[in-house]
Amino acid sequence: MKISIIGAGYVGLTTGACFASLGHKVLCVDNDAEKIEILRSQKCPIFEPGLEELIKKGVSSGSLLFTQNIQEAVIHSEIIFICVNTPMRDDGRADLRFIEKAACDIAKYLQEYAVIVDKSTVPIKTAEKVKETIMRHKKTMSEFDVVSNPEFLREGNAVYDILHPARIVIGVESRRAEDTMLELYKEIIEKTQVAVKITSIKSAELIKHGANTLLCAKISFANLIAEVCEETGADAQEVLEAIGLDPRIGKEFLRPGIGFGGSCFPKDISAFKKTLEVLRIDHAFIDAIEKINNWAQIRFIKKIEKELWVLDGKHICILGLAFKPNTDDIRNSPALKILKALKDDGAIIHAHDPQAQEKVKKLFPDIQYFSDPYSAAFDCDALCVCTDWEEYKNLDYAKLKDIMKTPLLFDGRGALDPKKAKNHGCMYIGIGR
Ligand code: NAD
Ligand code: UGA
Repeated sequence: MKISIIGAGYVGLTTGACFASLGHKVLCVDNDAEKIEILRSQKCPIFEPGLEELIKKGVSSGSLLFTQNIQEAVIHSEIIFICVNTPMRDDGRADLRFIEKAACDIAKYLQEYAVIVDKSTVPIKTAEKVKETIMRHKKTMSEFDVVSNPEFLREGNAVYDILHPARIVIGVESRRAEDTMLELYKEIIEKTQVAVKITSIKSAELIKHGANTLLCAKISFANLIAEVCEETGADAQEVLEAIGLDPRIGKEFLRPGIGFGGSCFPKDISAFKKTLEVLRIDHAFIDAIEKINNWAQIRFIKKIEKELWVLDGKHICILGLAFKPNTDDIRNSPALKILKALKDDGAIIHAHDPQAQEKVKKLFPDIQYFSDPYSAAFDCDALCVCTDWEEYKNLDYAKLKDIMKTPLLFDGRGALDPKKAKNHGCMYIGIGR
């Protein structure tokens, strides 16, 4: 099938590359000229495992094309995905200006029937506005349908998640659009036997905000339990593992630490809170999730201050800068909040991240970056793990003990082995244990 994708970011680019790998003809449009240049040269502008290979394959076989020209994209396809960013406004609402712009552009060039699919994460009732906007601005009599097809991919696993989704949600109001979407996903559905939920458009929109809110709630719950454990001497890992063994609860997303970050969770729960506000529904549930998440970061900094006393002039090694492992995405990274707080307090930061360093250098040009964890830790007063990259899980504690000024290990992500660390003479300060 012919597909166009507006917005070649984490979601749009991965969606496009995956559909191209399944034999569809995909045209991705983005208004970022530099990004389109990089993509045309078969390079990937982001670090996402497996994505560059798919881009190379798609471009060389001619099934994946890139353009800056939105007109080309609208004319090209019967399915047009909107995958633009929906960031948080200063007042906490979702900023929908890129969605509106995409809808206006589609309207301007729409010539034949097309299914306009919103894949960006948006507040409930956004599709209604997209439909209204296209109706108002379109120049021809051509018909169209608007569909909500939220995306649930995780960064770092994006390619796998698109090709092996946990569920496919299609919010739709016409049979024609439903059939088109099912045809598009046919191969994935047949190969993976994934559950497909055909819903109303509003339900689909709410499913996405609801799912992200519940995932955030689980993380904040884990951080609440972690704090109780610290105050009482229980072990959060033991407690949460056992709680998660109940299949009604599940063990995923119960890892306590310095809290959730990223480009989506914080802005999505904030946007959902604003929706509740508009609907005059109490949003204490979300307030609590946010409060615990912010507190998780403050608590971690307090632990460091407690041990190091005066931070001014102390050398602190930060391992991990991305908001999670397997990505170079630093948007709303809890690691950077920790880094900034320590730096503002006078600490001299030694930073390491396997992928995100180049991006962080632009924000913090005046700190020291190292090519491996040990050079970063050398002569430091403390080491903080802020992102649970696999390579931090097997650190050589004897070596750290030797090379650090004082081997204080602060584990913000439950990535280290407390027993091994202690056995090798390091002091381990974790979360919830
Ligand atoms: P992103 O910032 O990586 O990419 C968005 C892209 O859209 C950018 O390249 C931007 O230049 C482009 N763009 C914006 N307006 C445009 C326009 N009018 N015409 C052409 N291009 C335009 O964002 P993302 O992380 O891919 O997220 C996109 C949406 O998907 C958001 O709503 C997000 O909440 C949602 N989402 C993201 C993830 C994720 O893991 N990143 C997962 C699920 C859902
Ligand atoms: C998350 C969801 O998992 C995806 O399903 C969703 O599509 C996406 O948001 C989105 O809407 O953008 P992502 O942000 O890529 O995906 O990353 P996650 O793996 O969910 O982690 C998010 C944050 O929570 C990270 O900072 C991570 O360190 C933190 N986290 C996660 C915890 O602190 N504890 C956990 O147990 C799990």
